[in-house]
Amino acid sequence: MLAPILEINVADLTRSFGTKLAVAGISFQVYRGELFAFLGPNGAGKTTTINLLTGLLIPDSGEVSYRGELFDPARLAVKQMIGVVPQHNNIDKELTVAENLRVHGVLFGLRGQMLHERINFCLDFADLYAKRHTPAGKLSGGMKRKLVIARALLHQPKILFLDEPTVGLDPHSRRCMWAFLRRINIEQQCTVFLTTHYIEEAESLAQRVMIMDRAKIIASGTPNELKQRVGHYVLDIYEDGNLENEFFIDRTTAMQRLEQLELSVRIRETTLEDVFLQLTGKRIMGDA
Ligand SMILES: Nc1ncnc2c1ncn2[C@@H]1O[C@H](COP(=O)(O)OP(=O)(O)OP(=O)(O)O)[C@@H](O)[C@H]1O
Ligand SMILES: [Mg+2]
Repeated sequence: MLAPILEINVADLTRSFGTKLAVAGISFQVYRGELFAFLGPNGAGKTTTINLLTGLLIPDSGEVSYRGELFDPARLAVKQMIGVVPQHNNIDKELTVAENLRVHGVLFGLRGQMLHERINFCLDFADLYAKRHTPAGKLSGGMKRKLVIARALLHQPKILFLDEPTVGLDPHSRRCMWAFLRRINIEQQCTVFLTTHYIEEAESLAQRVMIMDRAKIIASGTPNELKQRVGHYVLDIYEDGNLENEFFIDRTTAMQRLEQLELSVRIRETTLEDVFLQLTGKRIMGDA
């Protein structure tokens, strides 16, 4: 197997707002071609981190490097390499779908035939071609989200940052969005960095997951590695109306324990949510 290529290196990044420490000296790596999920509850510091990584905010200290080069937001070449989908849709509602893409393309230096081709490609790729003359404000929530993503892809970025791409989407639209994100990752060969509150989203989509809580990274690894940390099997033990969990490395040991207990017990496989609960002692808000 080929060694992974470093795409983003984050070293000791810190950012405060007044006395509030939003990002407290975090360090991590993202590798080329991976789909990387950044998980954490409200206020953990995810958006602040994305803003620091994409030049929307300046860090108090620490460094970000892309492909071995120190990130300087003033350099157009780096800006060309990244696409950003912000947490809140910032489309121009009065402009049509195609016009929204055109404005972005011009800002990124695209002109003429090239611009025309990229707009058509992105409309088609995001399944928005039939809506190209519709004012963006009239799209459904899922389509608006896809438009913001199509726009971020217009200048052919190598790395796509998405801040909560599926928030507010119904379960069907969310799964369509997952398929779309996988296509971006594989067909467009884009490294994808996304934040989410939805643990099942991270589990289903990402090769690696990083969990942030209260401005710090508390765990990272493949979903499997994270589960290994607490044990792959869990017993849900109900006693006097309370639910307790016990974790086990393998099913045999879990079964042995289950047989000892005379309480109401269920055995199941550990989920990422269990990992999160074990590591932080709290449930992610908004997760069903
Ligand atoms: N511009 C700002 N001014 C003051 N405080 C801020 C600002 N931006 C973020 N914060 C604070 O920094 C902390 C981290 O916020 P951030 O938006 O990064 O969290 P998040 O993980 O993206 O949360 P959410 O899941 O709700 O989007 C919060 O306490 C927030 O109130
Ligand atoms: Mg956020």
